[in-house]
Order: sequence, then C-alpha cells, then structure tokens
Amino acid sequence: MYRIRNALLSGLLLALCAGPALADSSEITVYKSPTCGCCVKWIDHLEAHGFEVSAVDVRDTRTLKLEHGVPASLQSCHTAKVGGYVVEGHVPAADVARLLSEKPAVEGLAVPGMPLGSPGMEVRDPSRNERYQVLSFDENGKTRVFATHGPEPAAP
Ligand code: CU
Ligand code: CU
Repeated sequence: MYRIRNALLSGLLLALCAGPALADSSEITVYKSPTCGCCVKWIDHLEAHGFEVSAVDVRDTRTLKLEHGVPASLQSCHTAKVGGYVVEGHVPAADVARLLSEKPAVEGLAVPGMPLGSPGMEVRDPSRNERYQVLSFDENGKTRVFATHGPEPAAP
C-alpha cells in the first residue's frame, strides 16, 4: 500500500513539473529589421504553433548576428533566442520544439538564406517550393543537418 501511494505521489509531482517547464521554453524573442515582412509571417507561424513571441526591431541585424555567434554562411533575415539557443532564419516551429526537447549541445539552428516554401516564405505556386535543410551549428561554426524539408528531389 505504501509503495502504491509513493508511485502515485511521484507521478503527480512529474505532472506538476512538466507544466511550467514547457511554458517557459515556449517564450521566444525575435530580432528583426523594422521593414521585414517575411519575419512577421514567421512570427505568425510560431504563434500558431503555441510560441509566445516578443518581437524586437533592430537597425543593425549584421552586428546582432555576430553577437549571437551566427556563422556568416548561415545568415538569413531574423535572429531569435529561445531556451538559451539561437534560431536563425525560417526554421519550422516543429524543429524549434524538437531542439528544446532534445537539448543537443549546439549553439542553435539555422535555415540559411530564405528558401521558398519555408514557414513565412510561402508562395502561391507550390511547384516553386524549394528543398531546404535546417542546420545545427556549434560555437566553432561546425554544422550538422538537423532536418530536411520541401519537395523530394525528382528521381534520376
Ligand atoms: Cu525572411
Ligand atoms: Cu525574417
């Protein structure tokens, strides 16, 4: 009887702990230039997937990326901070969520450039959608493929 009660109690504690932790990690700060339209669309995408977004307009996005250690080859329009990680460019919300749950030893994720069809870069004609990679990067700028999205390449 004692053991059962103990098991119930630890289950209850786990349930209590899961709530606040999730709420905290879903807060994301997005740094963008005041005139960026696709940045706003990416923010809409994040909010639609449950993130709580604070948007900060910055004039000098280049310096900001340097300060956040985003490698030059991975740069895109906006730079975000979430749960101690850096998120550069049009990274899908599901990949940000996976980053926060798996907590790999990296600086962050990036989608270099602005591939058509990525969240915030939607186009009317789906045949224009590009295949793109989400890359993780570490403090030395070493990258790994975290996810791949977009249309499958045509069979040879
Ligand atoms: Cu963009
Ligand atoms: Cu942007």
